[in-house]
Amino acid sequence: MSTAQAPDAASGRSALARAFHALERGFDRVFGPGANPLRQLGALGFWFFWIVTVSGVYIYAFFDTSIVGAYQSLEALAREQRYAGGIMRSLHRYASDAFVIVMALHLVRELAYGRFRGFRWFSWLSGVPLVWLAIACGIGGYWLVWDQLAQFIGIATTEWFSALPGFEVSMVRNFLDAGTLSDRFFSLLVFLHIGLPLLLLLGMWIHIQRITRARTQPDAWLGWATLGVLVILSLAKPALSQAPVDLSIEPARIGLDWFYLFAYPGIYRLSPGAMWFILGGSTLLLCVLPWLDAKPRPAVARVDPANCNGCGRCLADCPYEAVLLQPREGARSRFKLAVVLPDLCAGCGVCAGACPSSTPFRSVDALATGIDMPQLSVGDLRGRMERAVGRLAGHARVVVFGCDRGAPVHGLEEASVAAFSLPCIGMLPPSFIEYALRGGADGIMVVGCADGDCEFRCGAEWIRQRIDGAREPHLRTSVPRERVIMLWPYHDEGGSLEAALAGFRMQLRSTMAAAGHAPKRRQGETTHA
Ligand code: HEM
Ligand code: SF4
Ligand code: SF4
Repeated sequence: MSTAQAPDAASGRSALARAFHALERGFDRVFGPGANPLRQLGALGFWFFWIVTVSGVYIYAFFDTSIVGAYQSLEALAREQRYAGGIMRSLHRYASDAFVIVMALHLVRELAYGRFRGFRWFSWLSGVPLVWLAIACGIGGYWLVWDQLAQFIGIATTEWFSALPGFEVSMVRNFLDAGTLSDRFFSLLVFLHIGLPLLLLLGMWIHIQRITRARTQPDAWLGWATLGVLVILSLAKPALSQAPVDLSIEPARIGLDWFYLFAYPGIYRLSPGAMWFILGGSTLLLCVLPWLDAKPRPAVARVDPANCNGCGRCLADCPYEAVLLQPREGARSRFKLAVVLPDLCAGCGVCAGACPSSTPFRSVDALATGIDMPQLSVGDLRGRMERAVGRLAGHARVVVFGCDRGAPVHGLEEASVAAFSLPCIGMLPPSFIEYALRGGADGIMVVGCADGDCEFRCGAEWIRQRIDGAREPHLRTSVPRERVIMLWPYHDEGGSLEAALAGFRMQLRSTMAAAGHAPKRRQGETTHA
């Protein structure tokens, strides 16, 4: 039994998504899901940003912001303070490179998994300017070193900008002329190199505004390990300047940092205009992608004021900041009412699983809850479950709860097994487990998604915590835990569920036999072998 719009997530994935997922699983085996860098690329972006900031502040303390002194001050830092300034300078460069790498991978990952459309448009769109800002920060940084690479960047950048209407080569090139170049221009570069990262930070903050408890810190082990790798790299290959600027020559051979300066060779191989066209066009394409490749949005959550007591659990559990608590209209009391912001709602149903009114034990014919999903209401789920449990036959009868986005559970259905697929496993109110057991099921199998694989970020974690008693609403302690099994397969591991179910049913049989329980039998039912 499934919801009205149960997509087969496994078969609906693109080749890029499958390739990325295979890579992620490979990394899971090496790092474990908790420390898998591919599952926390955004958090690593924040981490590298802070390393760049701290090392940048250190460098700035010794940096001479003048044309004459800039190069020398950096050389002195790297050579005279081998183990402080040298490492800080190298860390600044390598962490900046790492930032670009994780940002690019993060973009590709979200793209591969189709996480740019629908309610995610804001996260996606607000990510696009971050790419330009990050690259601009890096280019500005290389310019400040005032070596021959900086000279090349200066010339190439002015030539590049000259392709834009309103910019003229002669005008911009003045800045690179030995006669006209002044410390004022250098101060402008320093100002930009401090201002742009601040703007980037503001952009990163805006970027995560629609995500509840956005993960901005990587796993501690991973964070320290990446820092360790950067320090080792800094010691093994310290970041140094190239030859100093010589405005009387045009630098011929220079080493490029491809992470930041990838566009520069294209200015000469193609043309400045062509590079604007390619980069501007790709940016535009990224910006309109959420609307170019739009898919029908799932129905959003609805609040029933008659069943909402304003407890705020839906708000706490919603992964996308889509619920607000507002004072009840016209009410003098201090009670509040949940309100769903439809544009932000992912249609995951996690809120319905959190609502205390979602308990099937309520003695009402039509179970209505505080916040519910039109595509599969909690009342509907209770009705379907009651009917299905009533039909279960044989020994070790099991009710399976799964997720439309995870490993498919429908194939498990047979005379002794009923399966329900929810929009997200986080939609399951834990009281349904107890209700199914009391209704005649011998065991409950809860199938969520592997660590870090939950399409709606928190669903799998919330249900795990609710069943473990660490989160409200929790599964009552009186429910025998040996009759509940939780599984966290990858979405394409549906096959493994059959073996797990068979093992669970065998275990249930022996537990029941040991406890002297005869299998429950309804009136008129015959026993199956
Ligand atoms: C400066 C670089 C960036 C940083 C530091 C960053 C950071 C983050 C963080 C921390 C999250 C929340 C992850 C979570 O807790 O589930 C996130 C989500 C997201 N990011 Fe970024 N991001 C960056 C750039 C980008 C770019 C360039 C794009 C794409 C154009 C992008 C698209 C997204 C999307 C679509 C989500 C939502 C994922 C979801 O709903 O599950 N980000 N980002
Ligand atoms: S359906 Fe999901 S995204 Fe929408 S309000 Fe509920 S928990 Fe939030
Ligand atoms: S969890 Fe239910 S009762 Fe609590 S605020 Fe949300 S809708 Fe209302």
